[in-house]
Amino acid sequence: MNHFVSAADLTRERALHLFRVAGALKQRWKSGSRGAPLAGRTMALIFEKPSLRTRVTLEVGIIQLGGRAVHLAGQEIGMGSRESVPDVARNLSRWVDGIAARVYAHDTVETLARHATIPVINGLSDFEHPCQALADYFTLWERGIDVAAMRLAWIGDGNNVCHSLLLLGALLGTTLTAACPSGYEPDARVQAAVRRLGGRLTITHDPREAATGADVLYTDVWISMGQEGERERRLEAFARYQVNETLVGFAKPSALVMHCLPAHRGEEISDAVLDGSRSIVLDQAENRLHAQKAIILELLGGSLDDA
Ligand code: CP
Ligand code: NVA
Repeated sequence: MNHFVSAADLTRERALHLFRVAGALKQRWKSGSRGAPLAGRTMALIFEKPSLRTRVTLEVGIIQLGGRAVHLAGQEIGMGSRESVPDVARNLSRWVDGIAARVYAHDTVETLARHATIPVINGLSDFEHPCQALADYFTLWERGIDVAAMRLAWIGDGNNVCHSLLLLGALLGTTLTAACPSGYEPDARVQAAVRRLGGRLTITHDPREAATGADVLYTDVWISMGQEGERERRLEAFARYQVNETLVGFAKPSALVMHCLPAHRGEEISDAVLDGSRSIVLDQAENRLHAQKAIILELLGGSLDDA
């Protein structure tokens, strides 16, 4: 594994290995260990879109591993306008040890990976958010949940976060249901990939059917970055898909509620559910740090023993 552009770049074994590394890194950091397995190493962090969690956790993650980060705003380097994406990849490869990029078009991060001679991590594209899925499944795994024996219900937009969760879920054997309005289902290529990986995926237009008996309810914003012009149309299409106390009432009594954040409170999720006892959204956010430290350590060739 040279890059982490898609959740499908993992295998089941790779994902479980990364969970163990993330767990060990988390435990070591919390118990005061301050080793520097990536001392002297540098990553370039490219952001074409806004970010709180991804920006902070990637930057803090490489710093905690003993390395450093250089932050590059999209407009500053003008990827694809001031300079071609392959040329950005070739230049960065001469100076730094890894690239993480949050981009509009998925093709941009794929092109970076194709032309870089250093590892490339997808920090969110319009098609996938693999770091999020890795942290989310790590969050379930560290709670001792058998992810192969649970059912996850995605409620809302079949978007980038949904795509990566479905792909990783398929690798890990999770039973998956996605309840999406007509026209907003996960991309057909992702559905086909999930099936190729042996995943069990049901698509429905009925959020209650999806929620019934689910172990995990997961939702995300209805209007992703770059879709602001579709706001009115989307608010109308998704109106029945709010994760609120009524919908949660259809899930198992022990069900957990997940959201990648940022949340649009009162749209895809109610305050009561987001702030309620089943919500593990802040554990997910915290674990972005530990899961990404694991992927950075692996891709940059550092040793857990030095952490
Ligand atoms: N979940 C997530 O990626 O958050 P940011 O957009 O703030 O990075
Ligand atoms: N689907 C959202 C996720 C944000 C982390 C977006 O792309 O804006």
